[in-house]
Amino acid sequence: MIDGLRGAGLVGEGEVVLEPLAGGVSCDVWKVETLAGPIVVKRPLEQLRVAAEWHAPVERGQSEVRWLRRARGVDGRIAPEVLAELPVGHAFAMRFLPGCPVWKDELTAGRVEVDFAAAVGRSIAAVHAATANSAADRDAFPNDAMFRALRVDPFLLFVAQKDADFAPALYALADDLTSRKIALVHGDVSPKNILVSAEGPVFLDAECAVYGDPAFDLAFCATHLLLKAVWLGDDRLQQSAAALVHAYRAGIDWEDPADLQLRAGKLVAALLLARVEGKSPAPYLTDLEHQRIVRDQARALLLAPTPIDALVANWKRNLA
Ligand SMILES: Nc1ncnc2c1ncn2[C@@H]1O[C@H](COP(=O)(O)OP(=O)(O)O)[C@@H](O)[C@H]1O
Ligand SMILES: [Mg+2]
Repeated sequence: MIDGLRGAGLVGEGEVVLEPLAGGVSCDVWKVETLAGPIVVKRPLEQLRVAAEWHAPVERGQSEVRWLRRARGVDGRIAPEVLAELPVGHAFAMRFLPGCPVWKDELTAGRVEVDFAAAVGRSIAAVHAATANSAADRDAFPNDAMFRALRVDPFLLFVAQKDADFAPALYALADDLTSRKIALVHGDVSPKNILVSAEGPVFLDAECAVYGDPAFDLAFCATHLLLKAVWLGDDRLQQSAAALVHAYRAGIDWEDPADLQLRAGKLVAALLLARVEGKSPAPYLTDLEHQRIVRDQARALLLAPTPIDALVANWKRNLA
């Protein structure tokens, strides 16, 4: 890794310190001080650090680099600058953004800015709008196998295999999701992958990027906010989900917004269920009562598809 950084001219011959950054389950991530300022080095792991065995090809590092570059082309503020791709295991270096907390940490600490959620919605819609119906973007992100392994299998099919009652709805949803080739999808728009900068949201961790259904990004992020609303019992989190959806809707110029909102609503229902019954359960949703609140609503929503705006408005954070 250090040889790679030297080869790219990012560090000199002296001692190089790789400081691990607290992070995810899928990568090694380090902060490295360089003469040109701090950088982040990221290397994908072959075996994810989750309880269930879960392998993923390391080529996803390349998808991430491509997404970061493409997103910066849409708006230079919304993704860190990639500095180099390293010749080992699809590792890469990007600029470290100082003083930018992770959005999840802000939300968990009770610092909930509804306007920030709206900015997230605007930004992801901007990437989707810029890449919609683009043959060049479609060709640059032929990552269907990766998206299937990291998203469709664990979040939709895993539950379908366990739960016969909901299998037909989940299989149909998985088919629909994988068949749509509409715009460039980030694939992991979660508060833990968004930094809060003075200029708005900065998106990280685009390993699952694929040319697919933009409804997935909206649904994925909204699901996180709805789960956190149950966990923390904070109305502002639900308002944040509504602001996200509202701002995103204003940016839809490539299809009928009503169609996308219904697809996103179905995906939210499935993703909610996956976070209580799937391969990657929400780590903070340990309270059985919280799990029940989520499971009951998710099941009802899977059987009665609801557009995402109505779903968010009617979401119950408790059973009172
Ligand atoms: N460019 C960056 N600037 C500042 N912090 C970063 C940067 N990239 C990653 N981080 C920090 O490292 C953590 C993990 O990075 P991420 O890309 O999400 O990797 P993982 O795939 O392991 O989740 C982030 O949550 C963030 O705290
Ligand atoms: Mg991450």
